[in-house]
Amino acid sequence: MTSIPKADSQVDQWRSVMFLYDSALKKVNTKIEILNNEFNSRYDYNPIEHIKSRLKSADSIVKKLKKDGYEVTIETMMEHLSDIAGVRIICSFISDIYQIADMIARQDDVTVLHVKDYIKHPKPNGYKSYHMVVTVPVYLTDGPVETKVEIQIRSVAMDFWASLEHKIAYKFEGNAPERLLQELKACADMVDVLDAKMFSLNQAITAIAERHRQEEEERSEES
Ligand code: GTP
Ligand code: MG
Repeated sequence: MTSIPKADSQVDQWRSVMFLYDSALKKVNTKIEILNNEFNSRYDYNPIEHIKSRLKSADSIVKKLKKDGYEVTIETMMEHLSDIAGVRIICSFISDIYQIADMIARQDDVTVLHVKDYIKHPKPNGYKSYHMVVTVPVYLTDGPVETKVEIQIRSVAMDFWASLEHKIAYKFEGNAPERLLQELKACADMVDVLDAKMFSLNQAITAIAERHRQEEEERSEES
C-alpha cells in the first residue's frame, strides 16, 4: 500500500508527493557518490563514469498513465509508475555494473522491488541495461515513507546506443524503417564487442601496471 502525504488541496498533495520523489532521488544519488568515492580511495579507481538523475515531468506522467490505461490520479501514479524518480549510472565496464548493483542492493535501507537484467537478456531491438526498482525511506515529520526510485545501470557504449535508439524511436514514433532497425541491431552487436574488448584491454593494462609496481618494489628492496 502506498502512503500519500496528507495535504489540504490537490496542488499541495502533488507538491508533497514530488518533494518525496525528489528527496528519494537525492538519497540514492548520495549513496552512489559515496560508493564511488569509497571505491576510489580504496582501489584508486572510479567504477562510475557519470550519473544522471531526473524527476519525470507532469506531462510525461499523465501520458504514461493514459497509455497504460490508468486513471490519472496521484494514487495511481504512485502505485503504477516506477520511474517518477530515475537515476542512470554509466559505468566503464560490465563487471562494474554488477558490482555497483550489488553494493546498492546490499544497503540496509534499500529494498529492491524488482530487477530486469537486459544485459544477460537484451531486448529484441538490442537494448542492454541493468534495471532495478528500489525503495528508500524518506523521513517526514509523520514518519518514514518508502519511496520508489528506478535505477538504470549501463556501460558507456550501451548508453550511447540507447540514446540513439531513443532518438530514432521518438522521431519515427515507433515506426522506424526496417533498414534502420536492422542497422541499430547490428550496432548493438558492436556494443557487445566493444565492451568485451575494452574490458580485456583494461585488464591487460592493469596487469602491466601491477607488474611494474612489483618490479619497483623488488628494486627498492634490493637497494
Ligand atoms: P516502461 O518502458 O517505462 O513502460 O516500463 P517497463 O515496465 O517496460 O520497464 P523497463 O524496465 O522495460 O523500461 C524502463 C525504462 O528503460 C524506460 O522508461 C526507458 O528509459 C528504458 N528502456 C527500456 N527499453 C528501452 C529501449 O528499447 N530503448 C531505450 N532507449 N530505452 C529503453
Ligand atoms: Mg518498457
